[in-house]
Amino acid sequence: MAATFGIDFGTTNSLVTVISNDVKTTKKRPYVLTHEGKPHPSVVWYGGTVPVVGKEAKDHLSQLGLGVFGNFVRSPKIFLGSPYGISVGGIKKEASDVVADLLGFLRKEATSSSFKGNSFESAVITIPVTMRGPARAELRFAAQKAGIRIHQFVHEPLAALYGYLRRDTNFGQTIAELERRLVLVFDWGGGTLDLTLCQVQNGLLMQIANLGDTEVGGDAFDLRLRNLIRRKHEENFPNSDWSLVQPNADARLLQACEDLKIGLSEHSKRSLFISDYLATPGPEKDSHRPPPKVGAWFYEPLKAVENLEPPKGGYSSSLN
Ligand SMILES: Nc1ncnc2c1ncn2[C@@H]1O[C@H](COP(=O)(O)OP(=O)(O)OP(=O)(O)O)[C@@H](O)[C@H]1O
Ligand SMILES: [Mg+2]
Repeated sequence: MAATFGIDFGTTNSLVTVISNDVKTTKKRPYVLTHEGKPHPSVVWYGGTVPVVGKEAKDHLSQLGLGVFGNFVRSPKIFLGSPYGISVGGIKKEASDVVADLLGFLRKEATSSSFKGNSFESAVITIPVTMRGPARAELRFAAQKAGIRIHQFVHEPLAALYGYLRRDTNFGQTIAELERRLVLVFDWGGGTLDLTLCQVQNGLLMQIANLGDTEVGGDAFDLRLRNLIRRKHEENFPNSDWSLVQPNADARLLQACEDLKIGLSEHSKRSLFISDYLATPGPEKDSHRPPPKVGAWFYEPLKAVENLEPPKGGYSSSLN
């Protein structure tokens, strides 16, 4: 049976849903296809003969220590619509090829799950409100390469609101109560902060206004944190040869920064260690205690972030 799937192709995380009959009530309801209750990380690892996608790729990226070879693409969505493609280990790859690897993986996962009876050929796919024509065209092309026809694009905040309301067991009553009311949706993802003002009109969700900011997505925080940590560490260890950064070391540091940032939601202080950050000749080994010889300890980034002065005139934002 051919069902229409819903794909939330996110900068950081992606997942698939399908509307199907509930076995108990026989009523139609959305099923969210996750990996052990979590979305699939939008990471692709080109390390062997076939690309590795999702959690397995992210696990390799998060691994401390050597033994991680090949090249990672994190957040391929942000490259869609760019004429430059993606540099994978110095070799240019079309963004649509990398995204096709990711979408193909989602398709395979969805059809090998409990929905294996369905052939996954078409999908409704969510996009940021800021996504322009060339990026949409490339996304459509990528989906086509993965064997998926895009039935329709839906703005991410609208899809989030729909998903939120649909989960309500009193969906009909809630929608009736919201009639003519305005609802402002914030969707703060890894790539964009999207805002949509919606109104329920005759039981339908209508978009009144959209605004998106691509400069304050979660990825931007990770990058900023990584740059700060790198700069502080270079200042602390001026005698190290910083031209000897190992392949993938920056990618591992960036991933560790995201984990650190998330950890800082619950802890006031976190530290991280990246082994083999620099390649050094000779037999020296990393020490897991500071001061480091070849690895890199990054201390108390929270404190450093707190000490950051905002630039004169504040931060620029397209939301201003
Ligand atoms: N506890 C947390 N504290 C801070 N940031 C967090 C936390 N948990 C997740 N994040 C960040 O949220 C972002 C992921 O959010 P989400 O999965 O909604 O994004 P996405 O849908 O992949 O991206 P987009 O919609 O922009 O394409 C990442 O940057 C992640 O690091
Ligand atoms: Mg999202």
